[in-house]
Amino acid sequence: MEYDYSNIYKKFDFECNECLKFFNHVDHEQDIYTKEHSDRVASYASLIGEKLNLSNEDMETLRLGSFYHDIGKVGISTKIIFKDTKLTDEEYIEMKKHTFIGSDILSHSPTFNNIIPIVKYHHEKYDGSGYPEGLKGEEIPLLTRIVSVADSFDAMSSDRVYRKALPLEIVKSEIAKGSGTQFDPQITSIFLDILNNESDKIHSIMHKFDNTGINKFFEF
Ligand SMILES: [Fe+2]
Repeated sequence: MEYDYSNIYKKFDFECNECLKFFNHVDHEQDIYTKEHSDRVASYASLIGEKLNLSNEDMETLRLGSFYHDIGKVGISTKIIFKDTKLTDEEYIEMKKHTFIGSDILSHSPTFNNIIPIVKYHHEKYDGSGYPEGLKGEEIPLLTRIVSVADSFDAMSSDRVYRKALPLEIVKSEIAKGSGTQFDPQITSIFLDILNNESDKIHSIMHKFDNTGINKFFEF
């Protein structure tokens, strides 16, 4: 859980490293909350990955992909990102483009090939009703299905600009409700098991990456 991201960075060549740091800086400058959100999603996803006995390589891909899953939001207008009322249909279409923008940014270096599926498909749903391509079931890459659960959990369990975090019991029931529709049932079951039996790990992540900033980035 105590993961040192500098280990990942060391693997990148200088240009890629600098490029990612730049985008990360821009992304996080837009909303202080985003970094904490990314850290928590990476941590929750790692807990699931450990239960699935993923290889070290997959665990690194999972952490990095989780951390940068919303990197494409650097390309979305802040007028849309910070809008505190419901988005229009047109604005929603724009917001959804962050999946493509993120994968486009990363596609310029082969270094990031492994995390592109996470960035591109993290809003796909298990029943095929998500975006951008309406992938269904195991068409959605495994690591992406993990990030989807972790991302949604954090979306519900954190304060947002218009409301406080939902109570954990409600979040759990929402995650359970999404099993087989929004989420992979096996991954849902593993995460619910962690929530029920290893809640100390969850609370430790929440505490470590607490945020006092507003929270808008991750809900689309
Ligand atoms: Fe997203």
